[in-house]
Amino acid sequence: MFQGKKILLAITGSIAAYKSILIVRLLVKAGAEVRVVLTPSAKDFVTPLTLSTLSKNPVVSELFNEQAWSNHVMLGRWADVMLVAPLSCNTLAKMAAGQCDNMVLATYLSATCPVVVAPAMDEDMWHHPTTRENLAKLESFGNKVIPVDKGELASGLNGDGRMAEPEAILQYLQDHLFQTRDLEGKIALVTAGPTYEPLDPVRFIGNHSSGKMGIAIAEELARRGAQVELVLGPSSYHTQAKGIHIQRVQTAEEMYQACTGIWPTASLAVMSAAVADYSPTTKAKEKIKKTEESFTLELTRTKDILGSLGKEKQNGQLLVGFALETTNEKDYAQQKLKKKNADIIVLNSLNDEGAGFGYDTNKITIFEKDGNEIPFNRKPKQEVARDIVDRIVNMLYA
Ligand code: CTP
Repeated sequence: MFQGKKILLAITGSIAAYKSILIVRLLVKAGAEVRVVLTPSAKDFVTPLTLSTLSKNPVVSELFNEQAWSNHVMLGRWADVMLVAPLSCNTLAKMAAGQCDNMVLATYLSATCPVVVAPAMDEDMWHHPTTRENLAKLESFGNKVIPVDKGELASGLNGDGRMAEPEAILQYLQDHLFQTRDLEGKIALVTAGPTYEPLDPVRFIGNHSSGKMGIAIAEELARRGAQVELVLGPSSYHTQAKGIHIQRVQTAEEMYQACTGIWPTASLAVMSAAVADYSPTTKAKEKIKKTEESFTLELTRTKDILGSLGKEKQNGQLLVGFALETTNEKDYAQQKLKKKNADIIVLNSLNDEGAGFGYDTNKITIFEKDGNEIPFNRKPKQEVARDIVDRIVNMLYA
């Protein structure tokens, strides 16, 4: 995701500097070209040798030495982004005041690229009015501030002020600076949440689906430029992300009507809703009163939305279904691919801890129509959504 990107990493004197070593490693691994500048006090926490070895570039820390003057102007112009991580309280104050007594500050003042900072400090320093004022000043210059984490601090206290984790910093850069809008101009249909099938005016048959996975997919598709039509069952979750139009439905029949209306205009559809397979054959007009000892309910099959979309699928349209199984998972997932004429089936197993209804994480295996089977680790649903959309994009443009 960072292929060919030029990242200038400025490290300042903070215990969080040890995490910067991992930032360099992750960026290089992701294809970025990394150059590192240090403040004098950063060298008390990390060595130039480690950083130059990992970045495969010389590390700059002095404005000049006996032999040469370091060209901070060219460094700032070379970079696609300057990332200051960690940003100490001291460097923050100097940046806000326009001071220029070291290489990091000189580079910052002459940088023509976007500047992103990842602060790290103790909680009381973080909440001090001067810190707030200095950060607001940086933001007023157009610099971006990566939110700090809450947790254990160098002082031994627990609170706000930890530098964001390296993986989260890379994600921030990707989301805010290098987002690929590879789905620009595409219309994407997404279903999410459960359906409620009414028995009478007060009762329904439903399921435990929260809708979180489908909403995360809709948000990821929108972030990547798609115009998303989200058909959302009765979920308590919602999204206000740009680029998503929500149509609220209650029943499988309403979801079917909404989806079949949108599908002919869409480039892709992701059916992540947990649609009821059966619905009460009759819906009582009034509340059903208890009379007999037992009560028999007649149910009728609902329309198979994924299957119907599969039948209507045109060349160039891509269809993704979900499978939630408890036994013979792989066989069922593969059968579902064929039966529904889908291009991708995302299998999540109820046997996996942390996967499925209600959790914030999910563990999936993706089955593709050309036989690919790709297992993923358990991850937050936002990251799972990214993995799914990556496979969609890969297949759309294959
Ligand atoms: N689905 C659908 N319409 C339905 C039921 C399910 O579109 N009436 C979609 C779901 O959104 C999901 C996929 O079908 O993408 C798989 O759901 P599942 O209930 O496992 O599919 P079934 O074919 O009903 O599976 P089974 O044979 O196990 O009943």
